[in-house]
Amino acid sequence: MLVVVCTSLLLLLAVCSGARYRAPSPGPWVIPTVGEPWPKPQQLVNYEGYVVVRPTVFTFEVTREDCDLIQEAMKRYYRVVLQTLDRGIQKRTSRRAADKRWRKDSRFKAYLDSLEIQLMAPCEVLPYLHMDEHYELRINSPDLPGAALLTSQSVWGILRGMETFTQLLWLDETGTALKVNSSAIMDFPRYPHRGLLLDTSRHFFPLPAILQMLDAMEANKMNVFHWHIVDDNSFPYESAAFPQLSKKGAYNPRTHVYTRIQIRLVIEYARLRGIRVLPEFDSPGHTQSWGLGLPGLLTPCYSGSKPDGTYGPVDPIQETSYKFLQKFLAEAVELFPEKYIHLGGDEVDFDCWASNSDILRFMESHNITGDFSKLEEIYIQRLVNTASNLSASSLVWQEVFDNGVILPQDTVVHIWKGDMQKELAKVTAEGHPALVSQCWYLDHLESGGDWHKFYRCDPDNFNGTEAQKRLVMGGEACMWSEFVDASNLSPRVWPRAAAAAERLWSTVEVDFDEVDRRMEEHVCRLNRRGIRAQPANGPGYCPYIFY
Ligand SMILES: *[C@@H]1O[C@H](CO)[C@@H](O)[C@H](O)[C@H]1NC(C)=O
Ligand SMILES: *[C@@H]1O[C@H](CO)[C@@H](O)[C@H](O)[C@H]1NC(C)=O
Ligand SMILES: *[C@@H]1O[C@H](CO)[C@@H](O)[C@H](O)[C@H]1NC(C)=O
Ligand SMILES: *[C@@H]1O[C@H](CO)[C@@H](O)[C@H](O)[C@H]1NC(C)=O
Repeated sequence: MLVVVCTSLLLLLAVCSGARYRAPSPGPWVIPTVGEPWPKPQQLVNYEGYVVVRPTVFTFEVTREDCDLIQEAMKRYYRVVLQTLDRGIQKRTSRRAADKRWRKDSRFKAYLDSLEIQLMAPCEVLPYLHMDEHYELRINSPDLPGAALLTSQSVWGILRGMETFTQLLWLDETGTALKVNSSAIMDFPRYPHRGLLLDTSRHFFPLPAILQMLDAMEANKMNVFHWHIVDDNSFPYESAAFPQLSKKGAYNPRTHVYTRIQIRLVIEYARLRGIRVLPEFDSPGHTQSWGLGLPGLLTPCYSGSKPDGTYGPVDPIQETSYKFLQKFLAEAVELFPEKYIHLGGDEVDFDCWASNSDILRFMESHNITGDFSKLEEIYIQRLVNTASNLSASSLVWQEVFDNGVILPQDTVVHIWKGDMQKELAKVTAEGHPALVSQCWYLDHLESGGDWHKFYRCDPDNFNGTEAQKRLVMGGEACMWSEFVDASNLSPRVWPRAAAAAERLWSTVEVDFDEVDRRMEEHVCRLNRRGIRAQPANGPGYCPYIFY
């Protein structure tokens, strides 16, 4: 009786959590693939047999030496090759005994002593929206026996191709031979903007934690680090013109601040990996911590006829607010080489504005009595104009668009709530580029591996013309950090954000039998590279245990 109850309870749980019911059996639930890349390449053809890479002799051969991005990538990926061997299996059988075994294998075709890298265009310096990431990779293909060649018209394609090459490596069961199957790959991303948002205000993340996110993004071919650097709770961004902002607004002005030198370091680290750093300075709401260093910036809230000592959004009726924003944004645009800047604009609370008689008088004189979104519009319009005066293009959260603010045509609307399909149709119908995060909130937790829901979300899934579809720039997985700090960041983000990464890179397909197996291998790959990624598919194991 008890058994029956438990079994049906299990079934019920399995159904409720979206997982398939599995009969009890020994061993892992999902068997990992062997040398299959994540995200999945657009085209992959396999040929007969494999070649063997000997890390002691293997080199990347680059036809030109004037490209620092490739030189640096060669060092990084050489380490990855070594790790794949060294961390592949922790306890291996004797090297000599194993060697004999695979050399007699008829599928063994040759030793692969180098990957030739051909960049067929000038080496670019900074990653940007719509950069070319297309590449082709051939390994012991019929037209290239015993050799391997990576070609691209762009350095960004070379970086993506080197990532794929190292993911194709697999260690055989003896733990001594590093193999690559004979294959040809032609690959490019589906969307140009594939991002990860990190909120460094609710909790502060030390620099190494941020750099490691960039390593993991590279391993998932993501190309935008959206740095939600300040918010209500703390202001860790160091401004040269307004040092009081972080001195007063950071959790700790000595230890919990990103100095300008550190920010440049993050930008450079990201650049080398083909990742743009997109800063967000969210206003007029979400600015409580700004007010600590800059008295007079925020709207004083009133209780009856007296200020009650609390503050609301940035005060939109003071010229001093705009003078500050002009100078503050000018400095940010200079620090961050990225053409785009995220101006926020979400969740503006109108209650404080409604309590303040100066604000109400201003609204009356502007004929917008009672319409607080019009007041917000006045503010946002000046903010967006300030940014475009500085030659920056803007991104804004969807409320700005929803409230009818008139925006320059190239302003990107970032969708995070409501009916994603309707919103995508509306935004693109008005000719604005759109970015999707609505279905990729990493702080929304469910039991189980909890990544299939992210994988299913498709930004192309809305009713619109071809022209509208082309306005979808891609999306971002968002790590809001109310309940995340450096202790749990990595396993919370990975591999869950990898689901969005593949959706944004690869062509559409939801065959979870295949995807689960590749994900199983990818999680082990990330851990082998020193990135803590939580189990994706239930019981199983990685050959290398990272702890
Ligand atoms: C490579 O070849 C091995 C052995 O035949 C096979 O198990 C594996 O699935 C192949 N991997 C890829 C990516 O084709
Ligand atoms: C407000 O409305 C009045 C009456 O329609 C008009 O005379 C005035 O110019 C308007 N003021 C503004 C700032 O739009
Ligand atoms: C933008 O620049 C123009 C020309 O310099 C200036 O008239 C305008 O006030 C500026 N707008 C903002 C919002 O800074
Ligand atoms: C698109 O429109 C069709 C017909 O109006 C409707 O049946 C379908 O549900 C819509 N799809 C989406 C994703 O809104």
